[in-house]
Amino acid sequence: MSSIIEDLIARKIFNNRGEETIEVDVVTTTGFGRASAPSGKSRGKAEVIYYPAGGVEAAIKKVDELIAPEMAGLNADFQEEIDSTLHEIDGTTSFKSIGGNTAFAISLANAEAAANSHSLLLFQFLGGTTANTLPYPLGNCISGGQHARGKSPDIQEFLTLPYGAETFLEAATANTQIHKRIGEALRKKDKLFSAGKSDEGAWIANIADSDAFEFMAKACEEVGNELDFECGFGIDVASSSMWKEKERIYDYTNEGKKRDTGEQLEYTKELIEKYHLIYVEDPFHEEDFKSFAELTKLTKNCLITGDDLFTTNNERLSNGIKIGAGNAIIIKVNQIGTLTDALETIQHAQRHGYTCVMSHRSGDTTDWHIAHLAVAFGCPVIKTGVVEGTRIAKINELIRIEHFLGNRAKMAELKI
Ligand code: PGA
Ligand code: ZN
Repeated sequence: MSSIIEDLIARKIFNNRGEETIEVDVVTTTGFGRASAPSGKSRGKAEVIYYPAGGVEAAIKKVDELIAPEMAGLNADFQEEIDSTLHEIDGTTSFKSIGGNTAFAISLANAEAAANSHSLLLFQFLGGTTANTLPYPLGNCISGGQHARGKSPDIQEFLTLPYGAETFLEAATANTQIHKRIGEALRKKDKLFSAGKSDEGAWIANIADSDAFEFMAKACEEVGNELDFECGFGIDVASSSMWKEKERIYDYTNEGKKRDTGEQLEYTKELIEKYHLIYVEDPFHEEDFKSFAELTKLTKNCLITGDDLFTTNNERLSNGIKIGAGNAIIIKVNQIGTLTDALETIQHAQRHGYTCVMSHRSGDTTDWHIAHLAVAFGCPVIKTGVVEGTRIAKINELIRIEHFLGNRAKMAELKI
């Protein structure tokens, strides 16, 4: 039975930072879907624009007066048609008229409604019967940069990746233990440690980058030994936040060091070798495709990942592919607006051997759809924190999916 859209209902809700965001319900003749949009703090310049002038309220008005009447009568089963209608209604390349987050919430809620009308879970509906591989959870343990305050590390995120786990549940268990152990180590090191956490649930501490590396290495090794599988780790440098265009340097303010592009390349390479990093995101600013390509050539067994570099944008990915910039890509659907756009980028990345990392945003809701997208689209990694309500919403959904799949569930193949 087809699922014809009857109505779209939009409302204002809040994310984990208390910021306003949009939630949309899609009501069809035979199904129902609901999705809400996340929000980034260290956004890429090439991301779509989240809301029209006037913010969330203006976006809701657009849904009520313009989008809902236009979409009523369309068949929710045809996601591409739904998404191209959103582009047509908007009429810009940046979604600045209806808002990228408005498009995101409608696109995702529509897919959910279609799945629901076929009595399928979202990952089954989008991925079919072969969608049975679970991603490895990449989890933020220590926050720095724009995600923290005061004398915290300059690097934005220190992330665990338990790539030796045989099940998702085991992998998620490892991450919680590593996170906990790091908290204990921080308490021991600093009597004034207040156990504060960032939006993503990672520890905020008065430590240097070098301390954070040591804590991560130790906790991953110990937990890996106890659980008897490999737990690796990596970083999101989010270096666009450090880049000073005028001076052409990366400013590590807490470390008190400035690095030019050559020094940044050398430094990152040294860190990868010294700590056996298996994951490095945005080590160069968002327009420096060339340095990404150089680092990718110089390193082995490490996912060199573009987030702000690619912004889930297929054209930007094509630029990267041409010169071998990176070997992995962050997928944040709200960087590009719709499911169809994101899927195009994912498939293009996969055809060229890039590892796709499905990702949350630092500002997020308890929306768990990205858990399903990672399984449906065969993303071998999901970056969605370790603890904190909006992160656990996704982790727990993946535990449910693994449970649901039973014997058919397997872990993804990870090329590191
Ligand atoms: P966000 O950043 O604050 O834009 O979500 C997270 C990231 O850089 O991966
Ligand atoms: Zn990032």
